[in-house]
Amino acid sequence: MMVTINAMKRILGAACLALALAGLVPVMRAQSASAPSPVREQLLMDEGWRFALGHATDASRDFDPAPLSDSFNYFSKAGRASGAASAKFDDSGWRVVDLPHDWAVELPFDARGSHSHGYKALGKVFPENSVGWYRRKFFIPKEDLGRHIEVEFGGVFRDSQVWVNGFYLGRHSSGYTSFAYDLTDYLDYGGENVIAVRTDASLEEGWFYEGAGIYRHVWLTKTGALHVAHWGTYITTDVAGDASAATVNVTVTAKNDGAAPATFKFVQTVTSADGKTVAEFSTDNCTLTPGASHEFAASCKVSSPRLWSPETPNLYTLETTLLADSKVTDRYETPFGIRTIKWTADNGFFLNGKHVEIKGTNNHQDHAGVGAAMPDSLVYERIRILKEMGCNAYRMSHNPPAPEVLDACDRLGMLVLDENRETGTNEQQLGGLRDMILRDRNHPSVVLWSVGNEEWAIEGGEKGARVTRTMQNYVRQLDSTRPSTVAISGGWGHGSSTTTEVMGFNYFNHGDVDAYHAQFPNVPTVGTEESACYATRGVYFEDRAKCRLTAYDTNADRWFTQARDSIAFYMNRPWTAGAFRWTAFDYRGEPTPFAWPANASQFGAMDTCGFPKDVYYLYQAWWGDKPLLHVFPHWNWKGREGQPIEVWAYGNCEEVELFLNGKSLGRQPMTKYGNCAWQVPYAPGKLVAKGYVGGKETLSDTVETTGPAATLKLSARRTALAADGDDVALVTVEVTDAEGRRVPDAMNAVSFDISGPGRIIGVGNGDPASLEADKCADGQWRRSLFNGLAQVIVQTRRGETGTITLFARSNQVKNASLELEAGKTLPRPTVPVPAVSESALHAPVPALVEADVPAKPVENQKK
Ligand code: GAL
Repeated sequence: MMVTINAMKRILGAACLALALAGLVPVMRAQSASAPSPVREQLLMDEGWRFALGHATDASRDFDPAPLSDSFNYFSKAGRASGAASAKFDDSGWRVVDLPHDWAVELPFDARGSHSHGYKALGKVFPENSVGWYRRKFFIPKEDLGRHIEVEFGGVFRDSQVWVNGFYLGRHSSGYTSFAYDLTDYLDYGGENVIAVRTDASLEEGWFYEGAGIYRHVWLTKTGALHVAHWGTYITTDVAGDASAATVNVTVTAKNDGAAPATFKFVQTVTSADGKTVAEFSTDNCTLTPGASHEFAASCKVSSPRLWSPETPNLYTLETTLLADSKVTDRYETPFGIRTIKWTADNGFFLNGKHVEIKGTNNHQDHAGVGAAMPDSLVYERIRILKEMGCNAYRMSHNPPAPEVLDACDRLGMLVLDENRETGTNEQQLGGLRDMILRDRNHPSVVLWSVGNEEWAIEGGEKGARVTRTMQNYVRQLDSTRPSTVAISGGWGHGSSTTTEVMGFNYFNHGDVDAYHAQFPNVPTVGTEESACYATRGVYFEDRAKCRLTAYDTNADRWFTQARDSIAFYMNRPWTAGAFRWTAFDYRGEPTPFAWPANASQFGAMDTCGFPKDVYYLYQAWWGDKPLLHVFPHWNWKGREGQPIEVWAYGNCEEVELFLNGKSLGRQPMTKYGNCAWQVPYAPGKLVAKGYVGGKETLSDTVETTGPAATLKLSARRTALAADGDDVALVTVEVTDAEGRRVPDAMNAVSFDISGPGRIIGVGNGDPASLEADKCADGQWRRSLFNGLAQVIVQTRRGETGTITLFARSNQVKNASLELEAGKTLPRPTVPVPAVSESALHAPVPALVEADVPAKPVENQKK
């Protein structure tokens, strides 16, 4: 990215240049509607971190921040950190990485690794791979003296310790909650500052792939000394019965970090999405002594509010301005929505007075190629894909998500069940719950909290009843507008299920849902997990040796159920609110029913790349509102001529007739939420399904035998990208035959190159047992097709516009290329980090081995 100072000025304007030189990027929060205010700056601090692996058990290989050779450490004396936590440490030998960064996705697979986390060489068995150090230099101008400055981490996996300029800021164990530290007193104003982060991913928090490192954004926030506190606004809305007006109730926590008592006022405005001010109000004569903080409440009316819903995700923005002596000291924007929710025991869930069936999916936070380090644009893409599936609700299983996931749900229209990670009532567990609620309670998408999932040791007994009650009472103290659930897998009628506000059933086969409803007729209910039927995309004959299961919605082990049954079960019980499928996307980890080399789950309606499995269309048929017919499997069965092949159709028509090479194989009624099925002796050619409504043919779907693989093909849903360094194209790689038809069973090995202002950040193919790398450390990007498909994720470079060309090559088939345009279509101001050499920034990812530890002796290191 060769950007000269002049070019940078052109791109960003002179005002941003100082920030660029400081290595900081002025970026509006995704939800912010206007340019950053000069009184509050929120600067994205994602670029140009230095990274190295430390060591979980050997301090001499861990850049020891508190060596025994020194009588004083950062606990005994302020600012006394050594090793990599010290400002003076030489990190020039460390790799340069940009955030979000997940070093676990870069690690090799290893049979000794954790089954539930997808056999990555991470965790207690691999102490040399399980601690990561990050360091970042930044400049703070002299003029900032007197301002309040804090650093905010969206999420770090896990157990992070943070220092600035050798001063210890704190330890945060959760890998999922966001946290911030006040830097104000420790900074060098008019000079360089260094932030150092040690993260230890030895211990797992969940039973699924969790990533490792600073895998979410980091922000530096500057405000006046008198400012709105962190997570300091809380907005609730009351909508009039006829929806003609809404009262917006606002509580703002203001904090005075100044030296003198402050007398001040709030001026607050509410603007609609189209930028119109719809309410303005102020609160005068507020006072705060130095160091004090206090909650100030106010309210206003919005007439004819545009209500938020999945179909109409209307948002408003509350702007809070703090004025002391007519001088603005802070200005804070909070997006919010106006809507009502009601959970009922006899009629399910209501939004804005209308019944809404929860057509939900559970999801973890990783994607092929990038692991847990999800670009925001990929988060948005996944929510769009879910909406296309007909899904209207997303359970954050089983942890608070990145804030950007909730922004995407607010903006695109997706109901959210937001879930706490740790169950319990100690300070840390309730602290995690608090952090989730204070951060997330202004999001209109969030309609239900969850205090936990399948706590087997307690859920069926008295302890479960008590813990659930304590946690849910605590939620009510922080947010009175939404109820809480807990996802329970057993002991219904006892324990947690007797005290929860909303009953969450995990798999209806685990108990008697109807008996529970009869016993607790006043408790609203929802299926927090359902289905969990295994399927491998594009597989129609089981091959257990290769960890492949058929995609026919038949592999429901143990207490799991087929998708068809779980949809029908909840649709046929109008008193339940609906259910969340386990899961929409496959995820790394939990490769049950297989073990090594299987390393990804097979529960998804889509694979880890988001390529649909056949069951995706079952949901589209019955959750969506469009006519649909989908026939499968593919029709390339060379060698099986004359043998019966099971053919299924999903759809929402009344009848389906199947034809092979023009000959009818019979017409069948389509059962609601079900499928049609035929046994068809294989003969190459064309298999056509025709759908009928009222006896009339309304739609058809065809699969046909293709010729051999001839040409590679690249395509992407979006080819116009924003040159913001975040935006991604999810490029589909396939091979077609001479007639341009996708070859569905192709497994070709493909290699990739790129030119122009873009980079490949990951590859995947949805094979749950693939041991190929998602990140190609040598810069030679390659991936095999899995049943005809692979994915390359291409990301733009910050501030660089132009044509990106992706090239794909494979032996014996014609090469392909795809052009993507990086333009300024989406506003995301971007600046490179001048302190970092360009070659280092764009260098291929080196293999993550102990060689990452710099050869140079590290100061104060234990001998
Ligand atoms: C449930 C659990 C999920 C996932 C699923 C499939 O019991 O809550 O997190 O593990 O089973 O195995």
